[in-house]
Amino acid sequence: MLMDIGILLVTLLGVVNGAGDSSLYRGCDYNRCKYYAQLAQQPSSLLQQAGYRLYQQCYCSSYGVFLYNNPQTQATKAPIYKPTIPVSTSQCGISSVTGSATTYLNNQRGRVVGGVNTKQCEFPWTVLVNAGGAQCGGTIVDSMHIVTAAHCMRSGNYVKQASSVRVGAGSSNKNSLTYYTVRTVTVHPNYNPSSFNYDVAVLTLQYPLPTNNQCIKPICLPSAQLNIKTGTKCTVAGWGLTKEYSGYAPVNLQKATMPILSMDTCKQSYGYNTITDVKICAGYLNGGIDACQGDSGGPLMCAEGNNWVLTGIVSFGNGCARANYPGVYSYVPNLKTWIESITKAYGK
Ligand code: ARG
Repeated sequence: MLMDIGILLVTLLGVVNGAGDSSLYRGCDYNRCKYYAQLAQQPSSLLQQAGYRLYQQCYCSSYGVFLYNNPQTQATKAPIYKPTIPVSTSQCGISSVTGSATTYLNNQRGRVVGGVNTKQCEFPWTVLVNAGGAQCGGTIVDSMHIVTAAHCMRSGNYVKQASSVRVGAGSSNKNSLTYYTVRTVTVHPNYNPSSFNYDVAVLTLQYPLPTNNQCIKPICLPSAQLNIKTGTKCTVAGWGLTKEYSGYAPVNLQKATMPILSMDTCKQSYGYNTITDVKICAGYLNGGIDACQGDSGGPLMCAEGNNWVLTGIVSFGNGCARANYPGVYSYVPNLKTWIESITKAYGK
């Protein structure tokens, strides 16, 4: 994580593979590409802040290449799996590596510049979401559901097809992830791509995640109306860039601990209308530590007692780790009812 640039496109490989084979370009949608380019050119565009300027270089072509090169997508007619074991606090948000979430966060003192490697299985609910070649993060909330960002699931005005989305879980090493296929992508109905309001989506998997794996565990959703206090320390994790515009994406899952900022501070950075009650800021006004491109959709994790709870979803920022521009997260306590309307209805 650390540092910004549109969704990190993992498509370069696809471009190389696709060179010379024109049939591979069927998936390219140049209108979609133009749509992003126009939005990204508006000087204060949130899309630009979120790094979507990459689309100006028309990654649409590589996006299409990637889609049509993507060998997963078999699996269809499967029975509906109920989430195994409805999650209660004894079964969610427990990391055998960190131990008590409160104790862990209290011991993270001082300020680290940038992130550091997580240990294997330290945040076993953190997953990689690959959506048609775009890299995002996500969080396991039960054996059938992943919470991620809505903006990761959209291409222009469309929601990405479930068949183009894969969820990598089970390791902090990006090269050792096991990939799971997605049955349904549900984007929040109020998601607004120009304000990034309601930047949340739920992925329903095709098959349940294994329940006997110490590296694949659900996080807790925060208790209703958790009112997180300014200054509370929380941890963000992701495989996003470690330096703004560097193009350098780490192999090992990164983590960084930082305080929740007040709504006022957040509004001063990003504008009074932009920051609503479904968003929250975290980070340091001096900069230096933040989420970045490729981290979107991943977890901002806080403590409720011994348990880790999903408090924020990486959404956007102006650049990465810049002074006076902390990271903006979707605020899960105020989105929990919607998330549960999807997860709880499943299989009924
Ligand atoms: N929008 C970015 C993504 O798609 C994440 C941006 C987070 N940026 C930040 N400075 N906190 O990966």
